[in-house]
Amino acid sequence: MERIQSIRGMRDLLPAETPLWQMVERTAQEVLSRFGYFEIRTPLLEPTALFARGIGEATDIVSKEMYTFSDRDGASVTLRPEGTASAVRAFLEHNLGNELPLSRLWYLGPMFRHERPQKGRFRQFHQLGVELFGSAHPAADAEMIEILWEFAQALSLRNLSVHLNSLGCSVCRPAYREALVGYFTGQVGELCPTCAERLHKNPLRVLDCKVEGCRRAAEGAPRMLDKLCPECAAHFDAVRACLDQLGIVYALDHRLMRGLDYYSRTTFELLAEGLGAQNAVAGGGRYDGLVEMLGGRPTPAIGFAAGLDRIVMLLAEQGARAPEAPLVFVVALDGESQKSALSLMRELRGAGLRVEFDARCGSAKSQMKLADRRGARLALILGEEELRSGTVTLKDLAAAESAEKQSRVPRQGLDALIREKMRARPAEEIRP
Ligand code: HAM
Repeated sequence: MERIQSIRGMRDLLPAETPLWQMVERTAQEVLSRFGYFEIRTPLLEPTALFARGIGEATDIVSKEMYTFSDRDGASVTLRPEGTASAVRAFLEHNLGNELPLSRLWYLGPMFRHERPQKGRFRQFHQLGVELFGSAHPAADAEMIEILWEFAQALSLRNLSVHLNSLGCSVCRPAYREALVGYFTGQVGELCPTCAERLHKNPLRVLDCKVEGCRRAAEGAPRMLDKLCPECAAHFDAVRACLDQLGIVYALDHRLMRGLDYYSRTTFELLAEGLGAQNAVAGGGRYDGLVEMLGGRPTPAIGFAAGLDRIVMLLAEQGARAPEAPLVFVVALDGESQKSALSLMRELRGAGLRVEFDARCGSAKSQMKLADRRGARLALILGEEELRSGTVTLKDLAAAESAEKQSRVPRQGLDALIREKMRARPAEEIRP
């Protein structure tokens, strides 16, 4: 019978890869708790209107990429393409703004966009999202960028740069938009078909199109930073001053537009060398109008999302390995020893050690072979002799052949002895 395959653009994360994912997830939790953020978990499915209204009908995400279908009641539902709209919905639904003047939230999980799969781009991908509700102050913008930078530093990611721009507000952006439409209309022959089509609907996106002709055309385009109203300009200067204060280096990037409509003022991205065309590791910005647009009181907000698939890919390319405790492998030579091995393993795991055995319970030789393939550091061998004398035979699988390699040791206090042996060598990488 024909085998069923996974859906294009959606992949399995295999045991050989998940230790790095877990390391990234642990790091995210640890960094965010240091900044006082709490996790929120929202459903993967939301009413379609949430994204259509929140992200914007004219965006690529809403107009072309959403997984939208009718559920059995006929309601239109969508697999979340991002997390900000869901966070705002939950913030309003549970009146989180009433509990505290500031809400600091993070989330982590799969998002879904029907894009063309390529290196670093999937149809199911994973984001770490961070959102701060309740502050319009530039210090909040700086905190967001600092968290992103700190996360990347904590993972020891290399060759990254922060790009910064401002998209202005409802006062200064409309005139800029007009100026852009005017400029690109004169260059329409240079633009790719997509940009020629979206020129009037979404002219800002023409600026960050990757197609060569559009890039050339964009070079002489008017810049938002030159057209900011005095309030937006003062805000942007203050954000830059905060970043300088924090020692965070950034590049001004007038073509950084973002693909979602809800942004105002500060936008930023973290870009990586070596990822090819999909080089944005994270992106975000201020979205002061979104809470109101989704039915709440005016509430300033800012956030970002990091693409974990791309981060894990970068880490793997940079040779990172997730640290893991060394492995102890228990080998039993007969039925009685096998029973005793169960208790021994229970004790050792209770003492915090990582312990495995060969659950097929075959010959000693095949058990030792599996211990070796699993990359075990120590083998504990139990047989008739060991049971009689209350001992185990401890074999150091990493040591060269010598008198030290194998010794008979008492079962009493075994965990301390094992720890001592393990300390003699650093933790190894995991072999799933
Ligand atoms: P975004 O720029 O659409 O922003 O996505 C953020 C990050 O998710 C990207 O920089 C990229 O690393 C990753 N990403 C996006 N699409 C894909 C894909 N198809 N495959 C792999 N990775 C992908 C947002 O989603 C906003 N909600 C961010 C935000 C939060 N703004 C304010 N708060």
